[in-house]
Amino acid sequence: MSVFDASAGYELAFSYRDVPAEVDALLAWHGGAVRTSLELAAGPGDHALELARRGIATATLDLSPAMCARVAERAAAEGLTLTRVVRADMTDFAVDETFDLVFCLIDSLAHVLTLESLIGHLRSVRRTLAPGGTYVIESLHPADGFQPGSRTDTEWTTERDGISAHIRWGRGDEPIDPLTQVTHLLVTLDVAGPGGATHHEELMAQRFWTVDELTAAARIAGLEVTERYGDFAGNPLDHPHAWRLISVLRAA
Ligand SMILES: C[S@@+](CC[C@H](N)C(=O)[O-])C[C@H]1O[C@@H](n2cnc3c(N)ncnc32)[C@H](O)[C@@H]1O
Repeated sequence: MSVFDASAGYELAFSYRDVPAEVDALLAWHGGAVRTSLELAAGPGDHALELARRGIATATLDLSPAMCARVAERAAAEGLTLTRVVRADMTDFAVDETFDLVFCLIDSLAHVLTLESLIGHLRSVRRTLAPGGTYVIESLHPADGFQPGSRTDTEWTTERDGISAHIRWGRGDEPIDPLTQVTHLLVTLDVAGPGGATHHEELMAQRFWTVDELTAAARIAGLEVTERYGDFAGNPLDHPHAWRLISVLRAA
């Protein structure tokens, strides 16, 4: 069973993020009015739901049926409308609508394992961008790729309403295969509360993508990387506290 099947536990484990501030940054990086948005590999869809709360017509896409069900259930519970919840593979998808803002967060791009798939992914995104549209990718900071575990915590606990989620995203020092740039991480998620405890674990393949690979693949797909940041505060990639690789892409 995938860790992503434990959609509510995953949602709690990743609830440490300042979602409204991150959404402010996504909107600012787009630069103009955002009327429509699409979150790729959306998981439980925290950012998509925040955009919907702000009156932006928002859709989500994810491969996991449990994650698609979770985001739909959360939207319904809040009385929010998502324009669509698409179950699809982000490496090759088509949606018969275009969007001002498309985004893929928290290194979900690492689930794209080959160059062909990355180009397929970016071509799919290019087709879904409205004129003047923006695609924002948040991926692993290059320092973590070349020196695993150097910037990002790989183990933490979050708590809410008497329920705790403990997640371990590998050990933080797994080697990256020098030929494929793929690393295999044992991901464990333990959720405990008054109703009992659950344990999920999965050996997950993830690919580390370099700055130049993203630039080159974007060009092949008809996109251009116009800005890069090291975090959601907009610090540069070489800032000492930069811990993410945020790429802003637009049609070439
Ligand atoms: C680390 S979670 C991130 C969820 C969400 N973006 C967030 O910020 O919390 C990765 C998500 O990617 C989804 N995923 C993995 N491979 C995918 C693929 N090929 N196409 C679409 N979604 C995929 C998983 O189901 C999971 O929901």
